[in-house]
Amino acid sequence: MRERAEANLKDAEETVKLKVFRYDPEVEGKKDPRFDTFRVPFKKGMTVLDALIFARDHFDSSLTFRHSCRQAICGSDALFVNGRQRLGCKTQMSELEWPVRIEPLPHAEVVKDLVVDMEHFYDQMESVEPYFQTDELPSGEEQKQTRENREKVKMSTRCIWCSACMSSCNIAAGDNEYLGPAAINKAYRFAMDEREGEAMKEHRLNIIEQEHGVWRCQTQFSCTEVCPKDIPLTEHIQELKREAVKSNLKFW
Ligand code: SF4
Ligand code: FES
Repeated sequence: MRERAEANLKDAEETVKLKVFRYDPEVEGKKDPRFDTFRVPFKKGMTVLDALIFARDHFDSSLTFRHSCRQAICGSDALFVNGRQRLGCKTQMSELEWPVRIEPLPHAEVVKDLVVDMEHFYDQMESVEPYFQTDELPSGEEQKQTRENREKVKMSTRCIWCSACMSSCNIAAGDNEYLGPAAINKAYRFAMDEREGEAMKEHRLNIIEQEHGVWRCQTQFSCTEVCPKDIPLTEHIQELKREAVKSNLKFW
C-alpha cells in the first residue's frame, strides 16, 4: 500500500500536504488529540475528500471520516478546512491555501478523528417537526402548490442536514438549546408552505418563537456564509421573526 503511494508520489507533478486532526479516545497512545501530516499527489479537480481518501487508502487505514455521495447531496462530509466549515466533496484543493488543515466541525463532540456526534443537531431538527402536516385529509388528489409559493420555499428545501451552519454559529456555541439555523430554516420551509393552512402555520410559529428560537439570532450571517447549498438562512430567520410579530399583533 505504502509502496503504491510512494510510486504515485514519485510520478506526481505536484504534491500537497494535509495536516489532519487525529483523536481516538478508545486506543491507548492515541487519546491525546494531535495533527498528522500526509503528503498526497495533487491532480486537477481533486477535492478535499479525494485527498483524505488517498491518505486513508495509502497511508493509514484507521483515518476516520464520513462520506457517501461525493456530490454535495448526502451532507455527511462537512469538515473544518483551513478554518472554515466546508463540504469535503465540494471543496477543490486548488482553491485552498497549502498545506491544507483539516479538522472536525467545531462546537460538536468529536467521536474519532474527523467524525463528530450529530445527535444534538438531529434533535434540534426533529424538534421543529420537519415534515408536511395538514388538517385536511388527503383526498387522493394531488396537493397542488402555486408556482409562486414553490418559488418562495425553493431555497429552504435544499438543506442536506450537514450541520455546517450550526457549527459556524456563535449563538449555538453559547446556547446549547438554541434551535440553530438549519432547524429554523426547516421550520420556514413548512411554515411558508401555503398547503399546510393557517392553523398549522400558527403552530409552527409557536415552536420557533420559544425562548431558544428565532429571537436568539443576532444576524451575524456566519450560517449563510458557510451553507454549501447557498440557502439564505439569516434572511429566512428574519422573515420568521416578522411573521411571528405579525401573528402576535393579530390578537391585540
Ligand atoms: S442549512 Fe445549509 S449549512 Fe445548514 S445543515 Fe442545511 S445545507 Fe448544511
Ligand atoms: S459526500 Fe455527500 S455531501 Fe459530500
